[in-house]
Amino acid sequence: MLVVGNWKMNLDLAAARQLASAVSSSIGSVENVDVGVCPPFVNLDAVYGVLHGTGIRLGAQNMHAQDSGAYTGEVSAAMLRAVGCHYVILGHSERRQFFGETNASVSDKAQKALAQKLVPIVCVGESLPQREAGSHEQVVESQIQESLSGVHISSASELVVAYEPVWAIGTGKTASPQQVADMHGHIRRLLEHLFGRELGAGIPILYGGSVKPGNADEIFAQTNVDGGLIGGAALKADDFLAIVNAARR
Ligand code: 13P
Repeated sequence: MLVVGNWKMNLDLAAARQLASAVSSSIGSVENVDVGVCPPFVNLDAVYGVLHGTGIRLGAQNMHAQDSGAYTGEVSAAMLRAVGCHYVILGHSERRQFFGETNASVSDKAQKALAQKLVPIVCVGESLPQREAGSHEQVVESQIQESLSGVHISSASELVVAYEPVWAIGTGKTASPQQVADMHGHIRRLLEHLFGRELGAGIPILYGGSVKPGNADEIFAQTNVDGGLIGGAALKADDFLAIVNAARR
C-alpha cells in the first residue's frame, strides 16, 4: 500500500518543516506501507532535509516536460531529482481545470519524469456532469490511454496511477466503495492491456477525493485499491497518520 499527501498550495516554509517533522515523528518507521508527501516546489528542499533517512519519500506536484531553457516559472524533472524527489504528481484535476494541463502534456511529462528516474503519479478522474451522464468510464479510459501514451516501464514500481473523481475532491463527498471498486477494476484492465498482464497487475492504483481517517479503512479494503492520494487530511499530522495506519491494516 502507498499513501501520498498532496499538500497543494498550502503551508509556508516554517509550517512545511513543522508538518514534515510531525509526520515523520508520528509515523516512525515506515513498515508495510510506502508513504510520500508532496509540498510546493519552494519547500521541497527543506522538507527533504527533515525527511531524509526516515523512509518517507518526497514528491512534487507538477513539472515541465523540457530539460531546461526559457520557460519562466517552470521546474524540470532533473531539478526535482536534485532536491531529493522520488515522486511527481502529474495531471492532477486542478492542473487540468485551472492550468490547461492536457492528456498530451501529461504524457510528455510522464516520459520525461521516467527518464529522470522519478515515479510519476498520473491522476485521472471524471467531473460530476460526466458521472451523471454515465460517461465516467469512457472519460477515464481516454485519460489513461492518452496520458500514458508513449510511456514505457520495466517494473510496476516505476509508475503510479491515481483515480480522483473531481466531484469528490475537497467536497467531503467520497465515491461509494462500489464506485471505487468498479472504477479501479476498469483502470486495472486498461493498465493490463497497455503494459501487459504482469506489469499492469502490479502498478499501484491510488484513490483520492475526501479520504479521511473515518473512511480510509473501507476505501482501502476495496479490490484494486493500493492506497490513497490525500489532500486536506494530509495537512494534519494526526489525520495523515490515521490514514497511513488504515493502509497498514
Ligand atoms: P482532498 O483529500 O482534499 O479531497 O483532495 C484530494 C486530492 O486532490 C489529492 O490530490
